[in-house]
Amino acid sequence: MANPFGDLGLAAGYAASRPALHPLIVDRLRAWREGSPVGLAVDVGCGAGLSSRPLTSLASQVVGFDPAESMVRVARRTVPGVGFVAAAGEAMPFADASVDLLTAAGSLNYASDLDATLREAARVLAPGGVLAVYDFSPGRSFADSDALDRWFEAFLARYPFPASQARPLSPAILRDVATGFTVERGEPFELPLPHALDFHIAYMLTETSVRDAVRRGTPLEDVRAWVTETLTPVFGSTTRDVVFRGYLATLIPRRH
Ligand SMILES: C[S@@+](CC[C@H](N)C(=O)[O-])C[C@H]1O[C@@H](n2cnc3c(N)ncnc32)[C@H](O)[C@@H]1O
Repeated sequence: MANPFGDLGLAAGYAASRPALHPLIVDRLRAWREGSPVGLAVDVGCGAGLSSRPLTSLASQVVGFDPAESMVRVARRTVPGVGFVAAAGEAMPFADASVDLLTAAGSLNYASDLDATLREAARVLAPGGVLAVYDFSPGRSFADSDALDRWFEAFLARYPFPASQARPLSPAILRDVATGFTVERGEPFELPLPHALDFHIAYMLTETSVRDAVRRGTPLEDVRAWVTETLTPVFGSTTRDVVFRGYLATLIPRRH
């Protein structure tokens, strides 16, 4: 996931047009943790708060933080029951051993100093605490045909993703780079979500590649027209299962 917008005006539409994948991943995390009680859960790099919101179902207190103040403002406005603060992972605004669950949804990839961020994670985690790291790629496949994959290739050829500074991460990479942690469990997932054509069009328009094209001068309405015209025959009139691929990993600090 890349930071999808920098403009507050886009926020309302954005939240409504993103697939509700975070709650499914948090459900998976809850099952992995076998319902262990969580006092304070903190979402590292919370963005617009989509990754913080579902934590309210498993923790008695939830705080999200992000270095982008504009994102924190959006999150405060749109996600009730969660505290949001502007901060970076390299200097987490929490006391030692005070956090029961840290989550990082597609955010550690952007940390300018990953080692410092992981040291901070180990510092703030309470005994028995866990760092859960997850991420997922854009939904680009149907469960039962490759028609959407072919469409997505054409979409990316027309609206390429901008160059990204994001560092790739996976459970295997975390095993190598998160030296202060043990990867307790790390698994890929494939989650299908039912999408109607209109929802998928709106979702594709939130992709960073479209934001980048618009920033470079392509009218959003032109993109919408192309996406609508080319996706309509791919989807037809029925709701289709769109598959999201990603991973979830839980890490526990190695205490000396
Ligand atoms: C792809 S977005 C994910 C947002 C949110 N977690 C979600 O799942 O919707 C990555 C986020 O990481 C944040 N980020 C960038 N550098 C960071 C850092 N050093 N520490 C914490 N978060 C950072 C960005 O501002 C951005 O909001």
